[in-house]
Amino acid sequence: MKKRIGILTSGGDCPGLNATIRGVVKACYEMLGEDNVQIVGISNGYYGLIHNMAKDMQPSDFSGILTLGGTILGTKRQPYKMMTVIGEDNIDKVKSMKETYKKQKLDVLLTLGGNGTHKTSKLLADNGLNVIGLPKTIDNDIYGTDVTFGFHSAVDIATDTLDRLHTTATSHSRIMVCEIMGNKAGWLTLYSGVAGGADVILIPEIPYDINKVCDALIKRSEKGKNFSIVAVAEGVFDVNEAQMKKKERAKKREKEGITTATNRIASQIQQITGIETRTCVPGHMLRGGSPSAYDRVLATKFGVHAAQLIRDEKYGRTVAMVNSKITSNKLEDIAGLTKFVQQDSQLVITAKDLGIKFGD
Ligand code: F6P
Repeated sequence: MKKRIGILTSGGDCPGLNATIRGVVKACYEMLGEDNVQIVGISNGYYGLIHNMAKDMQPSDFSGILTLGGTILGTKRQPYKMMTVIGEDNIDKVKSMKETYKKQKLDVLLTLGGNGTHKTSKLLADNGLNVIGLPKTIDNDIYGTDVTFGFHSAVDIATDTLDRLHTTATSHSRIMVCEIMGNKAGWLTLYSGVAGGADVILIPEIPYDINKVCDALIKRSEKGKNFSIVAVAEGVFDVNEAQMKKKERAKKREKEGITTATNRIASQIQQITGIETRTCVPGHMLRGGSPSAYDRVLATKFGVHAAQLIRDEKYGRTVAMVNSKITSNKLEDIAGLTKFVQQDSQLVITAKDLGIKFGD
Protein backbone atom coordinates (compact mmCIF):
# COMPACT_ATOMS: atom_id res chain seq x y z
CA MET A 1 0.00 0.00 0.00
CA LYS A 2 1.20 3.46 -0.89
CA LYS A 3 2.12 5.76 1.99
CA ARG A 4 -0.18 8.79 1.72
CA ILE A 5 1.65 11.94 2.79
CA GLY A 6 -0.36 15.14 3.18
CA ILE A 7 1.43 18.50 2.89
CA LEU A 8 0.16 21.97 3.74
CA THR A 9 1.72 25.41 4.06
CA SER A 10 0.15 27.71 6.63
CA GLY A 11 0.46 31.33 7.84
CA GLY A 12 2.48 34.02 6.06
CA ASP A 13 4.46 32.77 3.06
CA CYS A 14 8.22 33.10 2.67
CA PRO A 15 10.97 32.16 0.24
CA GLY A 16 11.93 28.50 0.65
CA LEU A 17 8.48 26.90 1.07
CA ASN A 18 8.64 25.25 -2.35
CA ALA A 19 12.29 24.26 -1.87
CA THR A 20 11.28 22.52 1.38
CA ILE A 21 8.31 20.76 -0.25
CA ARG A 22 10.63 19.60 -3.03
CA GLY A 23 13.19 18.37 -0.47
CA VAL A 24 10.63 16.24 1.40
CA VAL A 25 9.00 14.84 -1.72
CA LYS A 26 12.17 14.01 -3.63
CA ALA A 27 13.68 12.32 -0.55
CA CYS A 28 10.47 10.33 0.04
CA TYR A 29 10.52 9.14 -3.59
CA GLU A 30 14.20 8.30 -3.27
CA MET A 31 14.09 6.52 0.08
CA LEU A 32 10.70 4.81 -0.07
CA GLY A 33 10.39 4.37 -3.85
CA GLU A 34 8.21 6.53 -6.09
CA ASP A 35 5.61 3.74 -6.43
CA ASN A 36 5.22 3.50 -2.67
CA VAL A 37 4.46 7.17 -2.08
CA GLN A 38 1.42 9.32 -2.83
CA ILE A 39 1.75 12.99 -2.05
CA VAL A 40 -1.52 14.73 -1.20
CA GLY A 41 -1.38 18.51 -1.57
CA ILE A 42 -3.69 20.44 0.72
CA SER A 43 -4.49 23.97 -0.51
CA ASN A 44 -4.47 27.11 1.59
CA GLY A 45 -3.19 25.73 4.88
CA TYR A 46 -5.49 24.55 7.66
CA TYR A 47 -8.43 26.19 5.84
CA GLY A 48 -7.95 23.57 3.12
CA LEU A 49 -7.67 20.82 5.72
CA ILE A 50 -10.92 21.96 7.33
CA HIS A 51 -12.68 22.08 3.94
CA ASN A 52 -11.10 18.96 2.40
CA MET A 53 -9.34 20.93 -0.34
CA ALA A 54 -6.90 18.15 -1.20
CA LYS A 55 -5.61 16.52 -4.33
CA ASP A 56 -3.24 13.73 -5.24
CA MET A 57 -0.11 15.20 -6.78
CA GLN A 58 2.32 13.81 -9.35
CA PRO A 59 6.13 13.78 -9.32
CA SER A 60 6.13 16.35 -12.14
CA ASP A 61 4.32 18.81 -9.83
CA PHE A 62 7.54 19.10 -7.83
CA SER A 63 9.88 19.76 -10.73
CA GLY A 64 11.37 23.22 -11.21
CA ILE A 65 10.17 24.58 -7.87
CA LEU A 66 13.50 24.85 -5.99
CA THR A 67 13.92 28.50 -6.92
CA LEU A 68 10.25 29.46 -6.94
CA GLY A 69 9.05 31.98 -4.34
CA GLY A 70 5.72 31.68 -2.49
CA THR A 71 4.04 28.30 -2.17
CA ILE A 72 2.61 26.08 -4.89
CA LEU A 73 -0.02 24.92 -2.36
CA GLY A 74 -1.29 28.38 -1.39
CA THR A 75 -1.52 29.51 2.21
CA LYS A 76 -3.88 31.23 4.58
CA ARG A 77 -3.90 32.55 8.13
CA GLN A 78 -6.17 30.45 10.35
CA PRO A 79 -5.66 31.76 13.91
CA TYR A 80 -4.93 29.05 16.48
CA LYS A 81 -7.09 30.70 19.15
CA MET A 82 -10.16 30.17 16.93
CA MET A 83 -9.36 26.51 16.17
CA THR A 84 -11.35 25.17 19.10
CA VAL A 85 -14.08 27.83 18.86
CA ILE A 86 -17.19 27.18 16.77
CA GLY A 87 -17.79 30.41 14.84
CA GLU A 88 -20.60 31.76 12.66
CA ASP A 89 -19.96 29.07 10.04
CA ASN A 90 -20.92 26.49 12.68
CA ILE A 91 -17.94 24.31 11.76
CA ASP A 92 -16.15 22.21 14.33
CA LYS A 93 -12.71 22.84 12.84
CA VAL A 94 -10.78 20.16 14.73
CA LYS A 95 -13.41 17.55 13.84
CA SER A 96 -13.37 18.63 10.17
CA MET A 97 -9.56 18.46 10.00
CA LYS A 98 -9.62 14.94 11.47
CA GLU A 99 -12.29 13.97 8.95
CA THR A 100 -10.23 15.25 6.01
CA TYR A 101 -7.20 13.34 7.31
CA LYS A 102 -9.35 10.19 7.42
CA LYS A 103 -11.11 10.79 4.08
CA GLN A 104 -7.77 11.36 2.36
CA LYS A 105 -6.46 8.21 4.08
CA LEU A 106 -3.35 10.05 5.20
CA ASP A 107 -0.56 8.25 7.02
CA VAL A 108 1.08 11.52 8.00
CA LEU A 109 0.51 15.25 7.64
CA LEU A 110 3.39 17.69 7.09
CA THR A 111 2.74 21.23 8.28
CA LEU A 112 5.08 23.97 7.04
CA GLY A 113 4.58 27.05 9.16
CA GLY A 114 5.45 29.39 11.98
CA ASN A 115 4.45 29.65 15.63
CA GLY A 116 0.67 29.60 15.10
CA THR A 117 0.95 26.67 12.71
CA HIS A 118 2.97 24.69 15.24
CA LYS A 119 0.37 25.25 17.95
CA THR A 120 -2.30 23.78 15.67
CA SER A 121 0.07 20.95 14.68
CA LYS A 122 0.34 20.03 18.35
CA LEU A 123 -3.44 20.22 18.71
CA LEU A 124 -3.81 17.77 15.81
CA ALA A 125 -1.11 15.48 17.23
CA ASP A 126 -2.94 15.54 20.58
CA ASN A 127 -6.03 14.47 18.62
CA GLY A 128 -4.27 11.38 17.36
CA LEU A 129 -3.01 12.51 13.92
CA ASN A 130 0.54 11.76 12.75
CA VAL A 131 2.03 15.22 12.27
CA ILE A 132 5.49 16.49 11.37
CA GLY A 133 6.20 20.23 11.39
CA LEU A 134 8.75 22.25 9.42
CA PRO A 135 9.91 25.65 10.75
CA LYS A 136 9.12 28.46 8.33
CA THR A 137 9.15 32.20 8.91
CA ILE A 138 11.07 35.31 7.97
CA ASP A 139 10.76 36.27 11.65
CA ASN A 140 13.12 33.46 12.84
CA ASP A 141 11.18 33.31 16.11
CA ILE A 142 10.35 29.61 16.35
CA TYR A 143 11.53 28.19 19.64
CA GLY A 144 14.04 25.34 19.65
CA THR A 145 15.68 25.95 16.29
CA ASP A 146 18.76 28.06 15.53
CA VAL A 147 17.15 29.24 12.33
CA THR A 148 13.98 28.98 10.24
CA PHE A 149 13.86 28.81 6.45
CA GLY A 150 12.90 32.10 4.82
CA PHE A 151 14.78 34.13 7.39
CA HIS A 152 18.07 34.51 5.55
CA SER A 153 16.39 35.34 2.22
CA ALA A 154 14.52 38.13 4.01
CA VAL A 155 17.76 39.29 5.67
CA ASP A 156 19.30 39.58 2.18
CA ILE A 157 16.34 41.60 0.86
CA ALA A 158 16.23 43.89 3.91
CA THR A 159 20.01 44.38 3.70
CA ASP A 160 19.72 45.33 0.03
CA THR A 161 17.00 47.83 0.99
CA LEU A 162 19.26 49.40 3.64
CA ASP A 163 22.14 49.53 1.14
CA ARG A 164 19.94 51.41 -1.31
CA LEU A 165 18.71 53.76 1.40
CA HIS A 166 22.34 54.63 2.18
CA THR A 167 22.91 56.15 -1.25
CA THR A 168 19.75 58.23 -1.33
CA ALA A 169 20.21 59.28 2.32
CA THR A 170 23.75 60.48 1.50
CA SER A 171 22.64 62.40 -1.61
CA HIS A 172 19.94 64.26 0.32
CA SER A 173 21.68 64.55 3.71
CA ARG A 174 18.70 62.83 5.31
CA ILE A 175 17.86 60.35 7.99
CA MET A 176 16.09 57.31 6.55
CA VAL A 177 13.90 55.26 8.86
CA CYS A 178 13.24 51.79 7.46
CA GLU A 179 10.49 49.57 8.89
CA ILE A 180 11.36 45.89 8.74
CA MET A 181 8.86 43.08 9.41
CA GLY A 182 8.91 41.35 12.77
CA ASN A 183 6.02 41.95 15.08
CA LYS A 184 7.19 40.20 18.23
CA ALA A 185 10.84 39.43 17.59
CA GLY A 186 13.57 41.66 16.16
CA TRP A 187 15.81 39.04 14.50
CA LEU A 188 15.29 40.29 10.96
CA THR A 189 15.94 43.91 11.91
CA LEU A 190 18.98 42.99 14.00
CA TYR A 191 20.62 40.87 11.31
CA SER A 192 19.85 43.15 8.37
CA GLY A 193 20.65 46.21 10.48
CA VAL A 194 24.14 44.87 11.17
CA ALA A 195 24.60 43.62 7.59
CA GLY A 196 23.29 46.88 6.13
CA GLY A 197 25.35 49.16 8.38
CA ALA A 198 22.42 50.77 10.21
CA ASP A 199 23.37 53.45 12.74
CA VAL A 200 20.38 52.76 14.98
CA ILE A 201 18.54 49.44 15.37
CA LEU A 202 15.23 49.36 17.22
CA ILE A 203 13.71 45.98 18.14
CA PRO A 204 10.72 44.93 20.28
CA GLU A 205 12.96 43.19 22.82
CA ILE A 206 14.70 46.51 23.67
CA PRO A 207 12.18 49.33 24.24
CA TYR A 208 13.62 52.61 22.98
CA ASP A 209 13.84 56.11 24.40
CA ILE A 210 13.35 58.56 21.51
CA ASN A 211 15.62 61.13 23.18
CA LYS A 212 18.48 58.63 23.31
CA VAL A 213 17.89 57.77 19.64
CA CYS A 214 18.00 61.47 18.73
CA ASP A 215 21.09 62.15 20.87
CA ALA A 216 22.92 59.46 18.90
CA LEU A 217 21.78 60.91 15.57
CA ILE A 218 22.76 64.46 16.58
CA LYS A 219 26.19 63.23 17.69
CA ARG A 220 26.67 61.55 14.30
CA SER A 221 25.71 64.73 12.52
CA GLU A 222 28.08 66.80 14.73
CA LYS A 223 30.87 64.42 13.74
CA GLY A 224 30.24 65.41 10.13
CA LYS A 225 28.09 62.46 8.98
CA ASN A 226 25.47 63.98 6.71
CA PHE A 227 23.05 61.04 6.85
CA SER A 228 21.87 58.24 9.15
CA ILE A 229 20.05 54.96 8.75
CA VAL A 230 17.57 53.80 11.38
CA ALA A 231 16.32 50.19 11.11
CA VAL A 232 13.03 49.73 12.95
CA ALA A 233 11.26 46.41 13.58
CA GLU A 234 7.54 46.84 12.93
CA GLY A 235 6.69 45.66 16.47
CA VAL A 236 8.81 48.19 18.41
CA PHE A 237 7.51 50.27 21.28
CA ASP A 238 9.06 53.00 23.36
CA VAL A 239 9.93 52.88 27.06
CA ASN A 240 6.55 54.39 28.04
CA GLU A 241 4.58 51.92 25.93
CA ALA A 242 6.69 49.13 27.43
CA GLN A 243 4.96 49.79 30.77
CA MET A 244 1.53 49.24 29.22
CA LYS A 245 -0.45 46.07 28.66
CA LYS A 246 -0.82 45.03 25.01
CA LYS A 247 -4.48 46.15 24.82
CA GLU A 248 -3.76 49.51 26.46
CA ARG A 249 -0.92 50.08 23.99
CA ALA A 250 -3.15 49.22 21.06
CA LYS A 251 -5.79 51.72 22.31
CA LYS A 252 -3.17 54.46 22.62
CA ARG A 253 -1.95 53.73 19.08
CA GLU A 254 -5.54 53.82 17.80
CA LYS A 255 -5.97 57.30 19.33
CA GLU A 256 -2.69 58.39 17.70
CA GLY A 257 -3.95 56.98 14.40
CA ILE A 258 -0.98 54.63 14.00
CA THR A 259 -0.47 50.87 13.90
CA THR A 260 3.31 50.70 13.89
CA ALA A 261 5.64 53.22 15.54
CA THR A 262 7.71 53.94 12.41
CA ASN A 263 6.08 57.15 11.20
CA ARG A 264 5.92 58.49 14.74
CA ILE A 265 9.62 57.75 15.21
CA ALA A 266 10.48 59.52 11.94
CA SER A 267 8.48 62.64 12.78
CA GLN A 268 9.90 62.77 16.31
CA ILE A 269 13.43 62.44 14.89
CA GLN A 270 12.83 65.27 12.41
CA GLN A 271 11.34 67.48 15.11
CA ILE A 272 14.03 66.83 17.73
CA THR A 273 17.13 66.71 15.50
CA GLY A 274 16.01 69.22 12.88
CA ILE A 275 17.32 66.85 10.20
CA GLU A 276 15.06 66.03 7.27
CA THR A 277 13.75 62.48 7.76
CA ARG A 278 11.90 60.01 5.53
CA THR A 279 10.44 56.55 6.06
CA CYS A 280 10.60 53.44 3.89
CA VAL A 281 8.44 50.35 4.41
CA PRO A 282 9.50 47.42 2.21
CA GLY A 283 6.73 45.31 3.80
CA HIS A 284 5.85 42.14 1.90
CA MET A 285 8.79 42.65 -0.49
CA LEU A 286 10.71 40.91 2.32
CA ARG A 287 8.63 37.76 1.87
CA GLY A 288 8.60 37.65 -1.91
CA GLY A 289 10.73 36.12 -4.62
CA SER A 290 13.28 33.37 -4.89
CA PRO A 291 14.99 31.87 -1.80
CA SER A 292 18.66 32.69 -1.25
CA ALA A 293 21.29 29.98 -1.73
CA TYR A 294 21.50 29.61 2.07
CA ASP A 295 17.75 29.04 2.31
CA ARG A 296 17.74 26.57 -0.60
CA VAL A 297 20.32 24.46 1.23
CA LEU A 298 18.55 24.81 4.59
CA ALA A 299 15.13 24.04 3.10
CA THR A 300 16.57 20.97 1.37
CA LYS A 301 18.21 19.74 4.58
CA PHE A 302 15.00 20.34 6.56
CA GLY A 303 12.87 18.67 3.88
CA VAL A 304 15.09 15.59 3.68
CA HIS A 305 15.09 15.30 7.48
CA ALA A 306 11.27 15.37 7.46
CA ALA A 307 11.34 12.52 4.93
CA GLN A 308 13.67 10.57 7.24
CA LEU A 309 11.20 11.09 10.10
CA ILE A 310 8.42 9.75 7.83
CA ARG A 311 10.56 6.74 6.92
CA ASP A 312 11.23 6.09 10.62
CA GLU A 313 7.56 6.80 11.54
CA LYS A 314 8.62 9.40 14.12
CA TYR A 315 5.65 11.70 14.50
CA GLY A 316 4.58 14.57 16.77
CA ARG A 317 7.85 16.33 16.03
CA THR A 318 9.10 19.38 14.16
CA VAL A 319 12.36 19.65 12.23
CA ALA A 320 14.97 22.00 13.70
CA MET A 321 18.59 23.07 13.56
CA VAL A 322 20.23 22.87 16.97
CA ASN A 323 23.87 23.96 17.35
CA SER A 324 24.19 23.79 13.55
CA LYS A 325 22.92 20.17 13.34
CA ILE A 326 19.63 19.18 11.71
CA THR A 327 17.43 17.33 14.19
CA SER A 328 13.84 17.49 15.45
CA ASN A 329 12.01 18.63 18.58
CA LYS A 330 8.87 17.22 20.12
CA LEU A 331 5.93 19.49 19.27
CA GLU A 332 4.99 19.61 22.94
CA ASP A 333 8.42 21.07 23.79
CA ILE A 334 8.20 24.03 21.42
CA ALA A 335 4.54 24.82 20.60
CA GLY A 336 3.37 28.05 22.21
CA LEU A 337 6.89 29.33 22.87
CA THR A 338 8.65 32.18 21.04
CA LYS A 339 12.37 32.63 20.46
CA PHE A 340 13.21 36.25 21.25
CA VAL A 341 16.45 38.18 20.79
CA GLN A 342 18.19 38.23 24.18
CA GLN A 343 19.46 41.67 25.19
CA ASP A 344 22.83 40.14 26.07
CA SER A 345 23.10 38.01 22.92
CA GLN A 346 26.37 38.04 21.03
CA LEU A 347 25.06 39.97 18.02
CA VAL A 348 23.49 42.69 20.19
CA ILE A 349 26.79 43.07 22.06
CA THR A 350 28.74 43.04 18.79
CA ALA A 351 26.49 45.77 17.40
CA LYS A 352 26.74 47.87 20.56
CA ASP A 353 30.52 47.54 20.69
CA LEU A 354 30.59 48.72 17.09
CA GLY A 355 28.70 51.86 18.08
CA ILE A 356 25.23 50.92 16.80
CA LYS A 357 22.60 52.39 19.13
CA PHE A 358 19.45 50.60 20.30
CA GLY A 359 17.84 53.58 22.04
CA ASP A 360 18.30 52.03 25.51
O1 F6P B 1 4.97 35.79 8.55
C1 F6P B 1 5.55 36.71 9.41
C2 F6P B 1 5.14 38.11 9.03
O2 F6P B 1 5.74 38.50 7.81
C3 F6P B 1 5.48 39.12 10.12
O3 F6P B 1 6.79 39.57 10.07
C4 F6P B 1 4.46 40.19 9.87
O4 F6P B 1 4.18 40.87 11.07
C5 F6P B 1 3.26 39.43 9.38
O5 F6P B 1 3.75 38.22 8.87
C6 F6P B 1 2.45 40.12 8.32
O6 F6P B 1 1.34 39.34 8.05
P1 F6P B 1 0.36 39.47 6.80
O7 F6P B 1 1.07 38.96 5.59
O8 F6P B 1 -0.79 38.61 7.17
O9 F6P B 1 0.04 40.92 6.67
